[in-house]
Amino acid sequence: MQKTDILARAKVNLTLHVTGQRDDGYHLLQSLVVFADVGDRLHLTRSDRLSLRVTGPMAQGVPEGSRNLVWQVAERCGGAVAITLEKHLPAAAGIGGGSSDAAATWRALGTLFGTLPDVDLGAFGADVPVCALQQAALMTGIGDDVRPVPFEPLNAVLVNPRVAVSTPDVFRALTHKANPPMGPIPDSGWDRSIAWLAQQRNDLQAPAIGLQPVIADVLAALGDAGLARMSGSGATCFGLYPDHADAQAAADRIARDHPQWWVAPTRLR
Ligand code: C5P
Repeated sequence: MQKTDILARAKVNLTLHVTGQRDDGYHLLQSLVVFADVGDRLHLTRSDRLSLRVTGPMAQGVPEGSRNLVWQVAERCGGAVAITLEKHLPAAAGIGGGSSDAAATWRALGTLFGTLPDVDLGAFGADVPVCALQQAALMTGIGDDVRPVPFEPLNAVLVNPRVAVSTPDVFRALTHKANPPMGPIPDSGWDRSIAWLAQQRNDLQAPAIGLQPVIADVLAALGDAGLARMSGSGATCFGLYPDHADAQAAADRIARDHPQWWVAPTRLR
């Protein structure tokens, strides 16, 4: 195959429980991770050398060289490919933009060259293995232990107030490292899912709001959702809605009230 395109879906942490911290500083997590149908697009073409171009509405500030995880994965996999990364997701946003791009590069190289490259994806970031899976999963350990789980798709709106949040800063601001674990995931169904999710947490939400108070405004804007919560280390929040029309109406309203925010109605699966 000469060329291939791939969608690097946004990752959403429906829950994110921090249950401890290892001696090396990394935190122990329990997270139910799902994927949106919005994401970055990658175009890969076989070439005589590696190159990377970044385009798209969210390209500003995204590195084109070896500082980009896409470059690092392609280089490690020995891929002589010309890559165009079309950025649609905000960066440093808690929805795994860079990790999903890295995982998509790995998958696309597998398509181009016929076999998935044998590399340790966890070396590129704690979220890269789950992003390689691109399906609902329970993430444990420091993020490296990933197990697919059954999950009924949910309608949602993703909202980012266009402030970048540094993941290490949020973890540093988390004072209680040993928090109660996540409860067992229930069978599907809107009411049961929402009731269960409401009892779970994102332990990074409060410290992230401490660093970027606008996140509380985003959650307030999603106040009509069945459940609203921050994803990852923020600042993107999700609101869950019973059907697509509700999600679309909420997205239209939030985009009108906050034209500077990034707003995406989507389906999580
Ligand atoms: O692995 P990744 O590069 O995504 O992690 C970014 C930062 O988040 C790490 O350098 C670390 O400070 C923090 N982190 C953590 N525990 C984890 C995952 C990330 O403390 N399980």
